[in-house]
Amino acid sequence: MPLVTSKEMFKKAYEGQYAVGAFNVNNMEIIQGIVDAAKEEQAPLILQVSAGARKYAKHIYLVKLVEAALEDTGLPICLHLDHGEDFEICKSCIDGGFSSVMIDGSKLPFEENIALTKKVVDYAHERGVVVEAELGRLAGVEDAIKVNTKDATYTDPDQAVEFVKSTGVDSLAIAIGTSHGAYKFKGECKLDFDRLETISKLLPDYPLVLHGASTVLPEFVGKCNDFGGQIKGAQGVPEDMLLRAGKLGVCKINIDTDLRLAMTASIREHFAKNPSDFDPRQYLKPARAAIKSMVQHKIRNVLNCSNRL
Ligand code: G3H
Ligand code: 13P
Ligand code: ZN
Repeated sequence: MPLVTSKEMFKKAYEGQYAVGAFNVNNMEIIQGIVDAAKEEQAPLILQVSAGARKYAKHIYLVKLVEAALEDTGLPICLHLDHGEDFEICKSCIDGGFSSVMIDGSKLPFEENIALTKKVVDYAHERGVVVEAELGRLAGVEDAIKVNTKDATYTDPDQAVEFVKSTGVDSLAIAIGTSHGAYKFKGECKLDFDRLETISKLLPDYPLVLHGASTVLPEFVGKCNDFGGQIKGAQGVPEDMLLRAGKLGVCKINIDTDLRLAMTASIREHFAKNPSDFDPRQYLKPARAAIKSMVQHKIRNVLNCSNRL
């Protein structure tokens, strides 16, 4: 089974009112844990690679690992560039075998975001690759970039329509109050569902994307802290809100932080209980299993995308 784009996945997700999980990958254990879960659940799957992940693991290793996953599982998988910041990185991923890229011009003025997105769309579409863009700006930490809450801006619904029309982009990430990382809210989590509903109505049959959508489950933060971690005040997006977003045109939900927490909690626990271990397989095996069970939980309870192949 070759890589697929997200086109069909999103069409089915939109009609079925559920979302496809887009999980960030950085190494073999993360990829294996995620694809094992998707295979067992017979779920559609997007594996996404950030600029940081490409720097860490090298583009070629990640592509080859995903090719191995395709061959091993027979699953239709979409390989996506997460937060491409310029044309060059998008081109490099399109030329280098990805089936989907994100051009993130969200920090640019509206017209410049349109021009950059259009340039990537033209290049990608000629080569059978789909494109996600972002309008509005999320707060939080992503790679080396930190966006303060005061600099975050919610997506303007009318601009979203104009943006999609002018660029021909295949999906659009919107800002409605989520943010990247483990510290999303202080106090009650508030998402602007009215705004989401408005955008969704103005863009019928169009796939929206929600970034910064980890739930930051207290169980995993607690486990990290119980075994020597120092994660204080972490708070994510409640699961019922994500399920609700899936019914309102959000077809792709991005999850990275929850994988990091699951993996780190497992490794911390392992070393707390086995301080003299030094064989990486001894701690990476349970860490991979922790990734698998987190992804299975997401597929069943947050994305509602089991048995949707
Ligand atoms: O939104 C960004 C993802 O969480 C990826 O994080 O850039 O540190 O790999 P990263
Ligand atoms: P989280 O930090 O909430 O996992 O979001 C990840 C993300 O949006 C990747 O693009
Ligand atoms: Zn993101």
